[in-house]
Amino acid sequence: MERSLSMELVRVTEAAALASARWMGRGKKNEADDAATTAMRTVFDTVPMRGTVVIGEGEMDEAPMLYIGEKLGTGYGPRVDVAVDPLEGTNIVANGTWNALSVIAVADAGNLLHAPDMYMQKIAVGPEAVGQIDIDAPVIDNLKAVARAKNKDIEDLVVVILDRKRHEKMIHDIREAGARIKLIPDGDVAAAIHTAFDNTGVDILLGIGGAPEGVISAVALKCLGGEIQGRLLPQNQAEKERCEKMGIHDINQVLRMDDLVKGDDAIFAATGVTDGELLQGVRFDGATGTTHSVVMRAKSGTVRFIQGRHSLKKKPNLVIK
Ligand code: FBP
Repeated sequence: MERSLSMELVRVTEAAALASARWMGRGKKNEADDAATTAMRTVFDTVPMRGTVVIGEGEMDEAPMLYIGEKLGTGYGPRVDVAVDPLEGTNIVANGTWNALSVIAVADAGNLLHAPDMYMQKIAVGPEAVGQIDIDAPVIDNLKAVARAKNKDIEDLVVVILDRKRHEKMIHDIREAGARIKLIPDGDVAAAIHTAFDNTGVDILLGIGGAPEGVISAVALKCLGGEIQGRLLPQNQAEKERCEKMGIHDINQVLRMDDLVKGDDAIFAATGVTDGELLQGVRFDGATGTTHSVVMRAKSGTVRFIQGRHSLKKKPNLVIK
């Protein structure tokens, strides 16, 4: 993959964030998602690559665009697998809360796990705790290991976890162990990334979220030198068959970094839609929209934060009437 692809991908997430941020707090998650998806799809046409969507808005018969198998890009340039989440955190935008992102992850063709749209058990950490976690170990053991790796007490750790009933037992165990908890309403991609940045105040992500989000998080953590482990959790026979169809034969298999994203190169780009610990959300000021993005590449380990100022007069398709 050419390194210039990174900058091209930021243009795509910026457009999606600008479009969906108009829906912030308006209680309309589908409209916010549609706006992000349409903008993302439009700008992808200008990106010099031969991309195939492996994680997207759904199967071909479920989604009008950015569906699995859809070809993206100009038709020239590197052959790549593309994972998109035009709006990660649809409810977040609808409610105007924290950490909604527009996200793209790209790797050489064949290198991204074609994760089906189902749940995945996850554990994720930043660089300091790589090699120390084990998705099969009790919560207390993982907390001890991360505390040791980060030279902290368990009481100093912050565990981020989706606020869901299914996590009651895990939340109980974390509290028993003495660690602190940050319950989030949505958005476990941002949460996984936060484990790799000290200034976010988060040490470890635990719990069950979406499998596609797990693969996208793996790309980000590969670029950041962190680690995520996952396990697919099909809820019924149809989901089991879906795993089989996507080449995942052992449902209980622990999916490690190299299972989620193969090879030593991958690119991750995200633009903040609403404010978060790492990225500021979109600001509108008359004819100007300001975006804040991060783009990173696994091969070089470079992480760039990019602030963009966009003329909305020249991008009228991003203005909602
Ligand atoms: P959407 O953007 O599709 O609404 O997903 C948000 C999200 O919170 C993800 O970050 C997370 O992986 C997943 O939903 C959790 O699913 P559920 O809401 O079913 O617990």
